[in-house]
Amino acid sequence: MRIGVLLAVLLFAPLSIAQNLYQQLGEKEGIETVVEEMLYRVGGDDRIAHHFTDVDIMRVHKLISEQICDVSGGPCDYSGDDMKTSHRNMGVTNADFNALVEHLIAAMEKHDIPVAAQNQLLGLLAPMHGDIVEN
Ligand code: HEM
Repeated sequence: MRIGVLLAVLLFAPLSIAQNLYQQLGEKEGIETVVEEMLYRVGGDDRIAHHFTDVDIMRVHKLISEQICDVSGGPCDYSGDDMKTSHRNMGVTNADFNALVEHLIAAMEKHDIPVAAQNQLLGLLAPMHGDIVEN
């Protein structure tokens, strides 16, 4: 009996200590900080900033944060448009996409998100590539 309890503790304790992706990203507050940093860098990048003129950036900040919270397992339900609709006719190129991802990585680095968590998030966003890039 005792050995059973010991085994259970050994097996399940690491699981309860392990943080899920949402937690590793710093939950809502951490995600909002990273997205703010990313958009700040995007705004300063002449390669892609032009896409964001005439855009309600506070709204985009809210929606990208919500989306990341949602896909990373957090308690959010993404309320924006799907990626195809929201990026339609924008002419986002592969290079534009990579530039934004570059800024997302830099933002996560700055806020000390563990590399494994960075890669996990990028892996969740990568499949959106086909809906966002148009040429
Ligand atoms: C992983 C990559 C990306 C993700 C996850 C993402 C996510 C989003 C989300 C959630 C929205 C709000 C959707 C809505 O309006 O309901 C949005 C809007 C927008 N995205 Fe992206 N996006 C990505 C890549 C890009 C790239 C590469 C560009 C251009 C360089 C871009 C430009 C925009 C612009 C300009 C809007 C605002 C549209 C508007 O309000 O009219 N996005 N994006």
